[in-house]
Amino acid sequence: MGESIQQKSMNSGAEENPAQKRREIRLLLADLGMEILSMKEAGADPEIVEDGKTFGENAEIKAKAVWAETGGIVLADDSGLVVDCLNGEPGIYSARYMGEDTSYEIKNQTIISRVNEAAGDDRSARFVCNIAAVLPDGTVVHTEQRMEGTIAEKAAGNGGFGYDPILFLPEFGVTSAEITMEQKNRISHRGKALEAMKRKLEEIYKGDVR
Ligand code: IMP
Repeated sequence: MGESIQQKSMNSGAEENPAQKRREIRLLLADLGMEILSMKEAGADPEIVEDGKTFGENAEIKAKAVWAETGGIVLADDSGLVVDCLNGEPGIYSARYMGEDTSYEIKNQTIISRVNEAAGDDRSARFVCNIAAVLPDGTVVHTEQRMEGTIAEKAAGNGGFGYDPILFLPEFGVTSAEITMEQKNRISHRGKALEAMKRKLEEIYKGDVR
């Protein structure tokens, strides 16, 4: 029987984020026909220093660190919120913004205030997700996708996690925390990057991934 995918647990931070992300990812990759293991389930516990300058560099650092311990196929993502009028902040520092222990209520309120001060008319922002996959021979492939929106004037919604309550999605007329997980997976940065990665893996393994 072939490869299993070790899907790295993608957040060293506190709160419910890692569990929420893992649920989203498992749902999306369910029909790939591979065994999906979290980093913990795969028995990996590498020291990871996320010192890349881009989402792609950080995703690759994480995937390679796990792959060095497990082999097989390893996926890791790096994602974050990019706000144009804040020069791309919090960007690759999204999880660490204001400190990992600061609540998202405070982080979100701070971003809204900063955007109110800075914006003029430009409240454009997006979630970005880069996924790196290390293949059994050490080759690395990437996909990167975005979910475009604007910074809401008020945080809204209890769904999702992190910055979801402040990314307003014009096509839905609500924030990313006010749509269902299924809706979000179809249009989200991570959902689309995973879909693209799934297609890449299917192409590489010609449908024979088991
Ligand atoms: P990473 O775990 O290092 O990739 O950091 C990702 C961080 O970006 C998360 O902790 C959130 O702060 C933010 N983020 C990424 N994707 C989303 C999302 O779908 N909703 C809300 N926040 C997100």
